[in-house]
Parts: sequence; C-alpha cells; structure tokens
Amino acid sequence: MDCARMDYEDQITEMLKNMTIFQKIGQLVQFGTFRELEKQLVKDGEIGSLLNFCGSTQVTEIQNWIMQSECPIPLLIGDDVIHGYKTGFPIPLAESCSFDLACMEETAAIAAREAACDGVNMIFAPMVDVARDPRWGRVAEGAGEDPWYGSQVAAARVRGFQRNDWDDKPHVTACPKHYVGYAASEGGRDYSYTEISERTLHETYLPPFRAAVEAGAGAVMSAFNDVSGDPASLSHHLLEDVLREELGFRGLVVSDWESVEQGVAHGVAADLREAVKKGLLAGVELDMNSGIYREQLPALLESGEITEEDLDRAVRRILRVKFSLGLFEQYESPESLGQQLHRHPEHVRTARQMARESIVLLENRKQLLPLSRELGSIVVIGPLADAPSHMLGCWQCKTDASHVVTLLQGVREAVSADTEIRYAKGCALPFDEDQSGDIESAVLAAQGSDLVLLALGEPCGFCGENNSRAFLDLPQPQDELLRRVCAVNPNVVLILMNGRPLTLTRERELVDTIVEAWYLGDESGHALADVLFGDYNPSGKLTISFPRSVGQVPIYYNQRNSGRPELIRYIDEEITPLYPFGYGLSYSRFVYEDLTLSATVLHPGETLRVQVTLRNDSERGGEEVVQMYLRDPAASVTRPVRELKGFEKVSLAPGERKTVVFEITEDMLAFPGADWKPVAEPGEFQVFVGGDSRCDNMASFRLEQ
Ligand code: BGC
Repeated sequence: MDCARMDYEDQITEMLKNMTIFQKIGQLVQFGTFRELEKQLVKDGEIGSLLNFCGSTQVTEIQNWIMQSECPIPLLIGDDVIHGYKTGFPIPLAESCSFDLACMEETAAIAAREAACDGVNMIFAPMVDVARDPRWGRVAEGAGEDPWYGSQVAAARVRGFQRNDWDDKPHVTACPKHYVGYAASEGGRDYSYTEISERTLHETYLPPFRAAVEAGAGAVMSAFNDVSGDPASLSHHLLEDVLREELGFRGLVVSDWESVEQGVAHGVAADLREAVKKGLLAGVELDMNSGIYREQLPALLESGEITEEDLDRAVRRILRVKFSLGLFEQYESPESLGQQLHRHPEHVRTARQMARESIVLLENRKQLLPLSRELGSIVVIGPLADAPSHMLGCWQCKTDASHVVTLLQGVREAVSADTEIRYAKGCALPFDEDQSGDIESAVLAAQGSDLVLLALGEPCGFCGENNSRAFLDLPQPQDELLRRVCAVNPNVVLILMNGRPLTLTRERELVDTIVEAWYLGDESGHALADVLFGDYNPSGKLTISFPRSVGQVPIYYNQRNSGRPELIRYIDEEITPLYPFGYGLSYSRFVYEDLTLSATVLHPGETLRVQVTLRNDSERGGEEVVQMYLRDPAASVTRPVRELKGFEKVSLAPGERKTVVFEITEDMLAFPGADWKPVAEPGEFQVFVGGDSRCDNMASFRLEQ
C-alpha cells in the first residue's frame, strides 16, 4: 500500500481546514464495542474506527450513517484475522513450518478477501514478533525464532493481506504487530518487561518489522511491553526515531488494546492526561478502545501542550490510509459489499494444502509411517482426536467448528472399507466442559488393534494471548494415557496438537513415531490423513527449537558462541535442544553432496554462488527444504554461530538428483554496525547447507574490499 502518494495530500489539507476539533479527535478514536455512545459518535461523525464489528449489512449500515454525518469520512473497521476469517487455516507458527511463502501469502490473501466481504478493512496481523520462549502463549501467532526467516514470512503475509485484487469491497490494510520486542517478555509471562539492547533490537526484533514496512504495510500496532524501561506505546524513540525515521514507515500506528492508557500502570505517566500527551506525541495515531484521546485531548489542546499541528499530523496519517484504501470511493454511496466468497471451495482446497505442508514429522524410527490403507483395525485415541473447536487454534475469528474435519473423521474417510476404525477419547482436556473419557477403555481398545493413532497435546486455550505456561509438557493425565497405551501396543503414532514447542523427552523414549500437527484449522483431519497414509509426503521443518526441558529456555539455534563454547553445560541436562530449528523428517531420504562455491573471494557488487547436489536416495518422491546458513567467525562484535540466509523447497522424484544454487551478495553478510546501519566486514565467512540448522556441510570464502 502506498501511503506516500502525494495526490491525496491536497484533499486532506482541504478536509482538515473544514473539520472541527472534535471531528479531528474522533478520527483518532477506535472502539471495540458498539453501544449507544459509539452509535451516536458515528452519527455525529466523531469516530474514526471500530474493531470487533463486522458483517456486510451492519458495516454497510454504519458506513452509511457516517457518510451522511457532518464529517463524512469512512470508518476503519479492524479485526483480528490471524489465521483465517471464515475458512480456518493452520495457526501461523504451523504455517511457518511449511517454508512455503507463496502458500502463506495465499492464506493471508484469502483471509483478507473473506474479511473484506464482511466490511473489514484493517487486519491486525501478521504478528511478526520473533519468539524464542515457548512459555509465551503467543509463539503460536508468529513465524518462530529466526529474524531472517521471520522477515520473509512477514513480507509474504503483508503482501497477501494487502493483495486487494477486488474492487467490489473495501480494500484492506495489514497491521503488523506488536511493535516491538513483545515476545521477549521476561519468563515468558505475557505483557511483562522486556530487556532488549539496541543491538538485539536491531538484529533480532526489528528486521521483520522492516520487511513488513518495505512490503507496504499501511499500519503498525504498538505493543503492550516496555522495552528496557520505555513502554512501546508511549515511546517517541521507538515510534518516531526508529519506526518512522529508520524503517521509513509512512502509515498509521494503532495502539494495542488500551496500551497508551497503560502508560500509567507502567509508571511513565502520572495520569491519563500525561499518558495521552506522551502517546500522541510519540506517534500513536489511533487509540484502541480506551476512549482517552476523546476525553483528554480537548484540554491538552486548550492548554497548548498538544498543538493543533500535532493533531493534524495524526489525522493526516489516518486519512492517508483511508484514501490509500479507496474507502472514500467505496463508501461514497454504500450499498452492499459485493460477492460473498466465504469458504469458497478454492479457499478450502488451499486450507488443506497449507495444513499438510505445516505438519512436521518428528520421529519415524521404525518406518511405521506411511500407513497402509489395508490395515485390519485402527484405534484413534485421545482428547484431541475428535475435538473440532480445538483444531481452530487460538484466534478462531469467524470460523465455525462445524466445518472442521477432525483426525477421526479424516482417517475414517481415508481407509478402505475393510479397515475397522474405533475411537476412544482416553481422557479429557483441562478446562473442557466435557470431562468424559477414561484411560481404561482406551487401553482396552489399543490392546486389540493393529495400530493406534494417539492425538495428544494442549487444549487450544493454552496458547495465544495471556496464556503463558510454566511447564511445557503434556497436560495431565495424558502422560499416563500415553504410557499405558504404549505398554499394550507397539504400533503407536503420537500426533501432537499444540501451539508451542513442548518438552518431549519422555514421549520420545516411549514412542518411535511422532507427528507434530499443531492446530491445522478446518482441514485438520484431511491433511493429517494425507500425511499418515502417504498421499502427501511430509515436508515441514521446525521454525522454533524444541527444548528438552523448560530449564533450557530460551534456546535457539542462532545463539552466540561465547568464549568457552566447549565448557557450556548443565549439570543435569544436555545442552542441545531435542529438535533444532529447521528439523523435520520426510518419508524420502535425502542426501547432500558436493557443496561447492563459485569463488573463494567475494568483492562488493559481485555474486558468489553456493551449489549443492541433493539426491533422493529412496523409493518415494518428496520435498526437502534445503537451508543455507552463514557465519561470520571473526567480526568486530560477536556474531551468531550461524544464521539462515536462504532456503529452497525442492521436489525430487525417487532416485532423482538436483543441483540447488544459492547466491550470496555482500548485503547478506551485513549486521548492524555504527548507528545501526548495516555493515559487512571483510574477512572469512562460512557457509553451511543442509536439511536443518545443525548441518555440517561447510565451505568458506573471504569478503575482500
Ligand atoms: C492483542 C492484539 C489484538 C488486540 C485487538 C490485544 O489484546 O494483544 O494482538 O490485535 O487485542 O483484539
């Protein structure tokens, strides 16, 4: 979206001349409820935006009201369309494991199209927070632990949400969030303090925002947290100096839910008046839900603490977005919102494709998978085996559990008529209304079956906002269910449904076959059956490390080396994660051979090619995510032990070989230097290419000036 277009500027200047102070302030107000007060504000033309309000008829009606008011400026209608609107897609963390940027872009585009049918024109997504602490419930909403990969996903999702390839409905702006560093909350406790150095800010937390801004995001949401003592939603430094100046953002900033008001609780504002003053001057144009801009700005203007120029600047930024979205034309005479495309068959097909690509095969030690369709009997066990609403994950938006295909249904549809399918819930999920399920009958069912599909994990309410966990294991009594089932049947496939990495050390000892399914949305059961029966060969790779135990957290692949890498240890735990970033198995066996570089020296302006041969050493066609990592072993500051800088998802027939080529240019070797500007320092660099972040295929070259 191009908020920098100058052709609206004159129109906006004209409008500002004719607006009253209250109409201007109204533009900065967003409410999340729609009661008498908000209705009146709409009719009076003194409100700029609503959230949690949608529906073709309702939105058309209120846009009509406002267009007939004395201040006919269409409303921004915001919504949390995080992983699907009517069609339920996998949670973002799951999608990120597909390493399929085109498909992620497509699910975002579909979600936006469906939301636009209901009048939504501002989507509070993507969440681009780099998240390295699985205790934090919101890891489910992002793309994992890596800033570079997170940036690719951020850009793809922004492009998707803002594809806007229709003209019979309002266009949509994405709103990447939560700016900034929100995922670094201490102890994984949502909303808590974040201690972030300028270096870490620039290296880790800013890159996905930069990518989202460069992809044209029209809005950014300022976060709840304080960054090293500076609450993000009242921070002139973060919003003005960094977001606008350094990253070049030209759109509008919306606060997270009442996060300007929370400046008082943070202790950087004595009262609401001071919070509003700081928030507005810092650069939060749209205040979410608190109503305090409406309450406090008149007096602040009166006293001159906020000038009309400050106010106009904020209104202008909001109007630019409204113009860029074409809302004025769309709502000139609001009638209807064009064709309804909810759950179009094409959308559901994409949901299935995205879901199967999101699945990560963690273990297949006895090659139990893929399954034959001719098995005599399969028992499907577990509290998540037939739990439709949990499959919809943490932000269920306008999805409907009645459309969800569960594992049980998917398997029933997939097997031959000769296979007997039984089901036993085994136990209940914490907090579920239905507490039925008993381990004994599940064990009995497992005893007599050829195969057990055991669906365990977290209830979906364990992930998402303010759902931090202190433990990362399976909720009780699932470990007992697992143990008992494994004791009576050697053929168990453990299928995990969860919104964060879990600690699976014990589970891995008990079971040889583990499938990480996350929450896959509407098409969960179809996608899982596709993978289990081999119609789709799993290709997902983890985008976040799985610790062995909670005490290892935070643990991520691109850590610093330290001065004593060989000595770093826990007395009582291993030092490596159980499953590292980039890890995931396939039914095929891939072999990496002949890593070569086109040169041993790279000069600025040149391109160095890294080449590797990938061979499918198996009888099955499959896809592999080939990953390229770089390391700068001697720089002016310490650098990560490796950083992902390229990947390609390659499809290979049985026995096929392919050459995969990555290009390296000087900018890919850069890191934040003086004034946080990127700098690539001459010297040695190492390249690693392989199937996960531990790969040891290495070559090296020198950067010379
Ligand atoms: C969340 C945001 C969300 C907003 C609006 C907040 O509590 O942190 O991610 O967009 O609510 O629903």
